[in-house]
Amino acid sequence: MLRLSLIMAIWTVDNLTEMRRSLLQWYAQQGRTLPWRNEPDIYRVWISEIMLQQTQVKTVIPYYERWLAQFPTVAALAAADLQTVLKLWEGLGYYARARNLHQAAQQVVGDFGGQFPEDVENILRLKGIGRTTAGGILSSARNLPLAILDGNVKRVLARLIALEVPPAKALDELWDVSEQLLDRDNSRDFNQALMDLGATLCTVKKPNCPHCPWQSYCAAYLKHRPTDFPRRAPKKQIPTKKLVAAIALNFDQQIFIQQRPQDGLLGGLWEFPNQEGDIQALLAYLFPGAQYERSLNTVFHAYTHFKIEIEPRIYRVDLTGAGWVEQKQLSHYPFSKAHLKIIEQLQEPQLNLSL
Ligand code: ADE
Repeated sequence: MLRLSLIMAIWTVDNLTEMRRSLLQWYAQQGRTLPWRNEPDIYRVWISEIMLQQTQVKTVIPYYERWLAQFPTVAALAAADLQTVLKLWEGLGYYARARNLHQAAQQVVGDFGGQFPEDVENILRLKGIGRTTAGGILSSARNLPLAILDGNVKRVLARLIALEVPPAKALDELWDVSEQLLDRDNSRDFNQALMDLGATLCTVKKPNCPHCPWQSYCAAYLKHRPTDFPRRAPKKQIPTKKLVAAIALNFDQQIFIQQRPQDGLLGGLWEFPNQEGDIQALLAYLFPGAQYERSLNTVFHAYTHFKIEIEPRIYRVDLTGAGWVEQKQLSHYPFSKAHLKIIEQLQEPQLNLSL
């Protein structure tokens, strides 16, 4: 059913030629100048594409520059330790991306003789690279005629064809549309243009249709309802986890931290011991005899599928050894955003922790 309705939306050869021409013309005039544009080093393009998954350009730029200063080549990244990699990623979110980059760099060294693969089949073997990232990298770095379908592009295409279901329910169809539209002789600029269109004109809330090169082809615009598309899946209630974190200080002013398991959410990052609900069992296990001192402000953080609230409680503990670090050393460890918000409070000068 869906395929039928889409096939009716497919354009004539003349339409396609004109759509490509107008998009490329708009891009030549209005496209953004970004550090990874026209970058021939495929390693750099790869780093940019991974950082740009789920993260906005303006957030990515300083991370991208710091990263390349520290890891200028795939060999340098492969040789780094995971802690250094996670520390550089700290604050960017979705940490699996950093772990995957590190593992993929080791695959490039181990399986591809240190040469980053330049064909789809092999690039897809690398950890963390799926179809759209492969298309993004190979079109951008090598002008190969591969389509893309990231979040912005899904929105642009869903509007263009007034897709009646949420994009996640019509991925094959959206890939077909992206493939059809692709200017195979100018795939680098075409794909970059499509992403810029989504990021700057065809935005979620206020699309700037009067300036859009595809206005006259856009089915959602022609229905006078651009923001009704893409169709949204019914909102799921996202749960809130209430956690208590133990900020344990010993009498040498050291603080206790622990590392999360490598696999799973925020894998490999450091944190203060914490637990949902009652923290007594955790205290008895880790810090027998702990003396409660005070609580800090509750910290809030939203992940994709749930939110957390953490009450940080300071305890005095008469222990030392593994896991106890100087407070000044905290900045050497990668922490999740929520725990960084706790550290910020610990570092406020009015909080006199040496009392
Ligand atoms: N999002 C994903 N890849 C991108 C790129 N190369 N430029 C801008 N935004 C992007």
